[in-house]
Amino acid sequence: MIADRKDDHVRHAVNHQRQATGSSDFDSVTFVHHALAGIDADEVSLAVDVAGKQWATPLFVNAMTGGSTKTGEINRQLAIAARETGIPIASGSMSAYFRDPSVAGTYRVLRQENPHGFVMANVNANATVDQVRSAVDLLEADALQIHLNAVQEVVMPEGDRSFGSWPRRIEEIVAATAVPVFVKEVGFGLSRQTVSWLRDAGVAVADVGGRGGTNFARIENDRRVGGDFGFIESWGQSTPNCLLDCADLPGIDIAASGGIRSPLDIARALALGADATGVAGAFLETLVSHDTAALVDKIGTWLDQLRTILTVLGARTPADLVGADLLITGEVASFCQLRGID
Ligand code: FNR
Repeated sequence: MIADRKDDHVRHAVNHQRQATGSSDFDSVTFVHHALAGIDADEVSLAVDVAGKQWATPLFVNAMTGGSTKTGEINRQLAIAARETGIPIASGSMSAYFRDPSVAGTYRVLRQENPHGFVMANVNANATVDQVRSAVDLLEADALQIHLNAVQEVVMPEGDRSFGSWPRRIEEIVAATAVPVFVKEVGFGLSRQTVSWLRDAGVAVADVGGRGGTNFARIENDRRVGGDFGFIESWGQSTPNCLLDCADLPGIDIAASGGIRSPLDIARALALGADATGVAGAFLETLVSHDTAALVDKIGTWLDQLRTILTVLGARTPADLVGADLLITGEVASFCQLRGID
């Protein structure tokens, strides 16, 4: 059953990517052009510090899949693309492995194909400390992601309805886990209040996982007989809004994911305070519609183009983008006004 669900998620996510209208809250974030600000391209480095480690790029493949034969093959191809481009990668939720250890290989392939890369294991916030340890061991993971997906769960007829233990579980996992812990939303956003709580609990990185890209309310509603949960598809904060909400929050690194469509969106997210950016749906669509080579090509092109954006903006590193001269308009400006953000 879990295996069918994993295959369904891929199918619906790819279809939704193909139907995407292209509009996004990222379009409300514009760099002011300063014609004399540019630097030499060879002065630019894309390296960033995330959770105390240096990453060569501010871009990673975010959590997607595993748990079925088909998704094991997708993980194999994603891992090759991550290896060839040198970008970090996360596994999909490993709950299928906790229920049925025979699917271990569909996750383990992430490490087998990418022996020297930065690999993250992914669990839900109900995972026990023992399960987390076995997930990290299986992937020889460099970090752990815990996903928060209450909105997705409530739209699933078979989904979880008990979320009260999540904060305690996160504290237990952080205390017992040797690798840095990332906590992520899956597309409904993390508020400043939530990120502050995560920081105080010792979480290394909050991935705001905002609205605007893959929409799990829509995916689960499409899978539901009757599809009567349409009202919840616009739930949550968009990724730019989350980043503005969390701006200047010390003591925790911020990752941005949810609806990143281009190198310009990566630069916008970095300028809004993200230390790194994750992409799921757009990379999956390239892989499923084409092949691994097409994904390698896409990631390489995005990184080259990101370098050119930094060159024009005069940013020697992604961190230099923070404080860039930005115009914030539309829905994002309204959100800032309502939240009292300058
Ligand atoms: C996901 N995502 C996800 N996240 C997670 O933490 N555990 C998971 O198992 C999954 N599974 C999953 C399957 C598929 C097919 C997709 C496309 C995505 C969510 C993902 O990591 C990310 O947070 C959201 O998809 C938003 O980013 P994009 O897709 O808009 O770039």
